[in-house]
Amino acid sequence: MGVFVDQLKIEHENIRLIGDIAKKVCQRINQGEEVLSEDIDHIIEFLDIYSYKGHHEKEEKGLLPAIEKAGGFKDGKTIGAIIQDHATLKIYIEKMKENHFKYKEKKHPGLSGLVGYTLNYLDFLYRHLEKEEKVFYKLADQLLSEEDQEGLLKRFESQDFEKIGKEKLDEFQKRLSQLSEQYLKAG
Ligand SMILES: [Fe+2]
Ligand SMILES: [Fe+2]
Repeated sequence: MGVFVDQLKIEHENIRLIGDIAKKVCQRINQGEEVLSEDIDHIIEFLDIYSYKGHHEKEEKGLLPAIEKAGGFKDGKTIGAIIQDHATLKIYIEKMKENHFKYKEKKHPGLSGLVGYTLNYLDFLYRHLEKEEKVFYKLADQLLSEEDQEGLLKRFESQDFEKIGKEKLDEFQKRLSQLSEQYLKAG
């Protein structure tokens, strides 16, 4: 097991956690309960920045090219499919943002659109995470040396600090525990 793949797995766990929170939010909305718009904004921001900008970038610019260079998946299609998945996930995130905005502006369809896109997004997301863990992460651990993985970890840690910021990353962790306390532990 290498340090870079380990970091990606930690991020998957955080993404799954925010996904479970988003699912709970959808359930509450469907039951007619009120959910704070601010919480929805925080969830969408987490998915957009932490997951899309941070995590997907590590896979597209770090993990996948390293696998290819080490001799895995030379057909170009398999890796292309992961990049396509990321693009699809981003479309869903934009739809979620759009519908949440409509809700705040009291325009149609608003909340029902938000719930629909979020549930479809989560379905797609969970399948994507599983595929990566079972195929790509396993292969990366076989093909990449410990030195390669350490280099990737350092490179992307500084990229996260540069592109997202240390403060924002800390804020994401804090929000993740607050939201899980609020939505998952409260029942
Ligand atoms: Fe991914
Ligand atoms: Fe991933």
